[in-house]
Amino acid sequence: MRERAEPIACLTAYEYSQARLADAAGVDVVLVGDSLGMVVQGHETTVPVTVEDIVYHTQAVARGLSRAWLIADMPFMSYVTLEHALETAACLMQDGGAQMVKLEGDAQQQEIVASFAAHGIPVCAHLGLRPQLVHKLGGYRVQGREDRQAEQMLADALTLQQAGADMLLLECVPSALASRIQKEVHIPVIGIGAGSGCDGQILVMHDVLGITASPPKFTQDFLKGRGSIQEALSAYVAAVKSREFPAAAQSFS
Ligand code: KIV
Ligand code: NA
Repeated sequence: MRERAEPIACLTAYEYSQARLADAAGVDVVLVGDSLGMVVQGHETTVPVTVEDIVYHTQAVARGLSRAWLIADMPFMSYVTLEHALETAACLMQDGGAQMVKLEGDAQQQEIVASFAAHGIPVCAHLGLRPQLVHKLGGYRVQGREDRQAEQMLADALTLQQAGADMLLLECVPSALASRIQKEVHIPVIGIGAGSGCDGQILVMHDVLGITASPPKFTQDFLKGRGSIQEALSAYVAAVKSREFPAAAQSFS
């Protein structure tokens, strides 16, 4: 899809019925995100989410998909060592049914990414805002606004690609930096709050349906003015495919 410049429509899902509707709407990639800790479990952060939680939800989502590619998130502290990371990925793929795993990481995770590549585990690297680090960052903020940070993010993206990452996810990154990273790498770049220059977009299901308590700036309620969840998800996919989403209002400069 990247090669033929077709925007990749991605969305999170956490259970069977959501997955079925997302699949029917033409969503290309479904992510069982550790955002489930917040939107499903009601925690304040993604930190408490466990591998067991992700496996449980991935199993339910997998039953609802017939077309979309299925990614599962590696939770906080589930990839501390190489062996630990492989064990977690095995759970997500063999027990959960995921086709790819995603981990929040910079160049420090390059050995894990390389080891996944060596063992045939498709992997997406998540750069920019890494919500698992919220207590280190002191809040959820746009990342890469300063030159040094921006150069580091680009270098990390190239390092992770070189290590064997199959996909990159950029969260809360200025549009110009995300576009620059997209041009420098050859793997698909999926953005959330990263502007329209990415190869694809991802949003959290609950944000798309307008049921999040205080939704972030980069999201849009696609159920507003529409009669059903199915229509809302189809509208989201159409807006990604036509590049109407994200507009400047849902991006950072
Ligand atoms: O956990 C999640 O839902 C994510 C997306 C926001 C990219 O990581
Ligand atoms: Na996540």
